This record gives sequence, structure tokens and C-alpha cells, in this order.
Amino acid sequence: MGATYLPDPILGLVAPLALLAVLFRIDPERAWLRYILLAMRYRRLGRSGLKLSELSLGAWVTYGLQVGEETALECMTAAYDAGVNFFDNAEAYGGGQAETTMGNVIHRAGWRRESIVVSTKIFWGGDGPNDKGLSHKHIIEGVHAALKRLRLDYVDLAFCHRPDPDTPIEETVFAWDVLVRQGKVFYWGTSEWPADAVFAAHELASKNGLAPPIMEQPQYNMFARERVEKEYLPLYEKLGYGTTIWSPLASGVLSGKYNEGIPKGTRLDLSTMAWLRKDALEEGRIPKVRKLAKVADELGCTTAQLALAWCLKNPHVSTVITGASRRAQVVENMKAIAFVDAITPEVMQRIDAILGAAP
Ligand SMILES: NC(=O)c1ccc[n+]([C@@H]2O[C@H](COP(=O)([O-])OP(=O)(O)OC[C@H]3O[C@@H](n4cnc5c(N)ncnc54)[C@H](OP(=O)(O)O)[C@@H]3O)[C@@H](O)[C@H]2O)c1
Repeated sequence: MGATYLPDPILGLVAPLALLAVLFRIDPERAWLRYILLAMRYRRLGRSGLKLSELSLGAWVTYGLQVGEETALECMTAAYDAGVNFFDNAEAYGGGQAETTMGNVIHRAGWRRESIVVSTKIFWGGDGPNDKGLSHKHIIEGVHAALKRLRLDYVDLAFCHRPDPDTPIEETVFAWDVLVRQGKVFYWGTSEWPADAVFAAHELASKNGLAPPIMEQPQYNMFARERVEKEYLPLYEKLGYGTTIWSPLASGVLSGKYNEGIPKGTRLDLSTMAWLRKDALEEGRIPKVRKLAKVADELGCTTAQLALAWCLKNPHVSTVITGASRRAQVVENMKAIAFVDAITPEVMQRIDAILGAAP
């Protein structure tokens, strides 16, 4: 190791970009986003024909709770300018406020509808007995309400936010088929379902000529690997399942920002996130992040960029859903795509040695 590794795209582009920025007084940040736009790759969502930007942006915790519409506009615009085409949401985020915010941003930005992929997730829609779960009633009503908040005629992707033990699988699969046939949902999938349950839903859909689930939304990061790397292997191989993975920075821990404690105003400092703090800062994680920071340093990237680029190395990941509470984080995170090739097998071995055995 030793010498700082700068991947070719960066070596080749930083100097001309800097020159252009100086000569034509272009905001260097915008110049970066333009460069990333050229470098952004689009991956097929599993075996489907839909293509998602390898990095995407989600609304959890932030929109409607932590930040207002102006910040959301700044973040989503920076992401869009960098080539992001997928924006993730859920009826549960901010009690619906996150979808309202995202809907307003999409409307204000004036993006061509065909240029973006927008999702919702259904499960936690409210407190009433029929405001949650995966019954026919809640799936249909939940999607209708989400479309209103998002100010859209359809969502491209819709997920069952969790499995529902209170609803027969037939009811759930038939309900999604109705929405797909009506053109209100283009593709449906699951989030954090056991592989067996996905197989059961898929088989039922196939037997009845219904739209099958095609994608999962699981947690995946350097600390949470089991499901994506092991349990779901048969889903990719047998069903052609895609994955839109969440919490790639383990709620920010993998950026190194918590190495010296909990900074004010961060996600883990929020009183509403007390439940998450203990898991996110589980014993043993911070010493690992410190070691990862050294690897990142040698590669010439930030720890966050290393963690995101590491997720992108997994070919079963269709898109890495990033999260951000400010525009600067989006800009930093988008640059991660320039470091994917820097994670050589040798670097991967060093990372594995730091993290402990792969699943
Ligand atoms: N299906 C599900 O069950 C599920 C669950 C969770 C999330 N999701 C989806 O996945 C998306 C991403 O998950 P996530 O938000 O947990 O992702 P994450 O990348 O693990 O965490 C994002 C948070 O980390 C901090 N951060 C991001 N970039 C940073 C940087 N470069 N430096 C320092 N701090 C940085 C920000 O929080 P602060 O600045 O506030 O500290 C940001 O909001 C969500 O928005 C949501 O759409 C889905």
C-alpha cells in the first residue's frame, strides 16, 4: 500500500475540471456534479428492464422531520444533477410528510416524469386498525394516499415495507396485481422479507398469472451483510430479484462522524432516534470505522465514500439508496462512484480483515 491511490477518472478529470472552474468561474461543486453525471452508471433492477442509477436518494428521517422543503430541494437537485434517477420514499416517513415534501420538490424542479423513478412503501400508514399492514384495503388506500402526497399519477416502485403475519399472502399478491394492472404501480416488491416468504409470494403470482414481486429493499452495509450476501442468493439466481439497499452508512456511523462521540444535530443526536442509537453504535463498531478511515485515506477518499463504493462492489446491489440531511453530503456521497475501481481484491481483503469474517 503506502502511496495514495487516485483512480484514473479522478486523475484524468480533476485538473481539467479545476482549470475550467477557474477559467469560466464555474462553481467547482457543480463541475463535480457534472463529472459524476458522466460517470454514473445505471443498473438493471434484477432481471427487469428498469434501470436505476447505482446511487439513489431516500427520504427516511430527514424529509418532513429533520429538514424542510428548501433543503430537500437542494439535496434532490444535487442528486439529480449527478445523474440520480431514483428517489425512495414510504407512507410511514414523517407520517406522510416526507412524501408531501418530495412531491413538492419534484413539482418545483419540473423534471420530466419519465426521467425519474419514484417509490413508496406500504405498511405503516396510521393508527387505525386498517391503516397498517398488507390487507387489500390498506394496500389500495395506502397507494392512493401516497400518490396524492407525491402529486403523481403512478409510482414506479412500491414495496411491502415489512411482512404482515395478519394477512394471507394471496390477499397481498392480488392487491398489488390490481394496482399494477391499473397503471398506478409499475413494479412491486418487498422490504426485509425472509427469502421463503418472497418465494411463496412469487410462486403464487406465477401460478395465477399475476404480477410477481421483483425486488427487495434490505439493509446492507459493512456491518449488516448476512441477508444480502447469503440469505437472498437464491432470490437473485432463481427469481432474478433486484435489491435497492438501505442505510449504506449505517445511519452515518460509517462516515466516521461518531468516532469521537455524538455531534449535535446529527441523526443519532435526535431525541426521536434514541431507539436507533444503541444498535447503530453497537460496541466494536467505532474501532473498525477508525481502521477503515486509514484505508480510505490511502485511497484518497473519505470513509463515507469508501463505505458507499464498497456496497457498489456487490453485483447483486441494483442501487445504493443514500440519505443526506444537507447538500454537501449528497455531493460527497455521489463522488463515491469514482472509487469503486480503487477497491481492488487486495483492498477488499484488508476491509474484510477489519470487519471480521464475511457471512
Ligand atoms: N426499507 C426500509 O426499511 C428502510 C429503512 C431505512 C432506510 N430506508 C431507505 O434508505 C435510505 C437511506 O437510508 P439511511 O438514510 O439510513 O442511509 P445512511 O447512508 O446509512 O444514513 C444517512 C444519514 O447519514 C448522515 N450522512 C450521510 N452522508 C454523510 C456524509 N457524507 N458524512 C456524514 N454524515 C453523512 C446523514 O445524517 P445526519 O446528517 O442527520 O447525521 C444522513 O441522513 C432512506 O432515506 C430510505 O429511503 C429504507
